[in-house]
Amino acid sequence: MKIFLTGGAGYIGSVLTRELVKAGHDVTVYDTFYFGKEALNDVEEKVRLIRGDIRKMTEKDVEGQDVVIDLAAMSNDPAGALNPALTESVNYRGRVHVAMLSKKVGVKKYIAPSSAGNYGWSEKPVNETSQVSPITTYTISNHKWEQDILPMSDKNFCVTVLRQSTVYGVSWRMRFDIIVNDFTLQVFRDKKITIKGNGMEFRPFVHIKDDCQAFIKVIEADEALVNKEIFNVGTIGQSLRIKDVMERVFKTLNIEPNYGFGEFIDKRNYIMDCSKIARVLGFKPKYTVEDGAKEVYKALEDGFLKVDDPKTVTLKWYKSLIEKGLMPSS
Ligand SMILES: NC(=O)c1ccc[n+]([C@@H]2O[C@H](COP(=O)([O-])OP(=O)(O)OC[C@H]3O[C@@H](n4cnc5c(N)ncnc54)[C@H](O)[C@@H]3O)[C@@H](O)[C@H]2O)c1
Repeated sequence: MKIFLTGGAGYIGSVLTRELVKAGHDVTVYDTFYFGKEALNDVEEKVRLIRGDIRKMTEKDVEGQDVVIDLAAMSNDPAGALNPALTESVNYRGRVHVAMLSKKVGVKKYIAPSSAGNYGWSEKPVNETSQVSPITTYTISNHKWEQDILPMSDKNFCVTVLRQSTVYGVSWRMRFDIIVNDFTLQVFRDKKITIKGNGMEFRPFVHIKDDCQAFIKVIEADEALVNKEIFNVGTIGQSLRIKDVMERVFKTLNIEPNYGFGEFIDKRNYIMDCSKIARVLGFKPKYTVEDGAKEVYKALEDGFLKVDDPKTVTLKWYKSLIEKGLMPSS
C-alpha cells in the first residue's frame, strides 16, 4: 500500500517508517525536519522524503496515496505551550487541512495519532466514551481536531483516531522528555531519579513497537471495524503510578533506589481502559516498561543514544530553533 506519513522523521514516525517498509509498504514522509533527516538515514533510499509544513500541503503531495498517518505536531504539552498560536495552527487547523485534502484526492484511510492526554483527570478508568477534559493548548487542539475529522468519514473515507498512551523505547529520533525514557536516562547519568511532581498520578504507557503495531492493525483492518472509531492504544496493565514506573526502572536496572520530588502539580491522572482495541483489532502489547528501560539503558551504554543530545528534549530544541529563527512564529 502507499502510505503517507506526516511527521515521519519524529520519535514515533522514524520507527513506524521502518516497520512499514519492513511490511512491504511504499512510504512517503512529509516533515519540516525540525530534528533533521538523520533519523531516517539508513532507510532514506527506501522512502520518499518531502520537506514541507502540513499547513501548506497541496493535493499534489498526497495524490495517489492509500493511507495517511498524520503524526506531525507540536508533540507534547510544554512544546505546545511555547507558542499557542502556532500549536493551534499546526495541531488543529493544519491537521484538519491534511484530512480535508486526503478526502478530496481519494485517500482511503486517514489515521489520527491523538493522545490519551485528552482525558486529563479522572477518578474512574476512562474508555473511548468517557468525557475528555482537555485543558492545555496541546490537548485542546487534539480534541478540536478529533471533533472536526470524525464527521468527515463516509464510505469512501475511513477516519480512525488513536489515543496513544505515553510511548517509551528507543527511536532514531530519541525523546528523553517522556517518562520511562527520561527515568532511564537519569539512572544512567545520575544514579538518581527526580520526579517532577509527587509521582502519585496514574498514566498509561505503551512501548513504541507496540504503538506502531496499533497503526498497522488499523491499516490492515476491514474499514467497517475502524471507520469513525476512536481507540485507546495500550493496555490497562500499563496504566501505572509515575512512582511505580520509577521503582520498576530502578529494579530492572538493578540500581539501589535514590530519588527526589519536584514542585510540579500534575493535572493528569487516569487509568486507561484499552479493551476496545484488544477486542476489535486483536491488539496485544508484547513489551513492558521493564523491556523499555533495559533497551534504552543498553542503547546509552552502546553509544547509540547520547546523554547530551540536545534534540532529545523537544521543548529545549524548539526554543533553540525559535532563537535561531528556524521555526515559524505563527
Ligand atoms: N510520543 C508520545 O509519547 C506520544 C503520546 C501520545 C501522542 N503522541 C502524538 O503522536 C504524534 C507524534 O509524536 P512524536 O513523539 O513522534 O513527536 P515528534 O516531535 O518526535 O515528531 C513530530 C514530527 O513532526 C514534525 N513536524 C512538526 N511540525 C510540523 C509541521 N507543521 N509540518 C510538518 N511536520 C511537522 C517534526 O519535525 C517531527 O519530525 C504527535 O501528534 C504527538 O502529539 C505522542
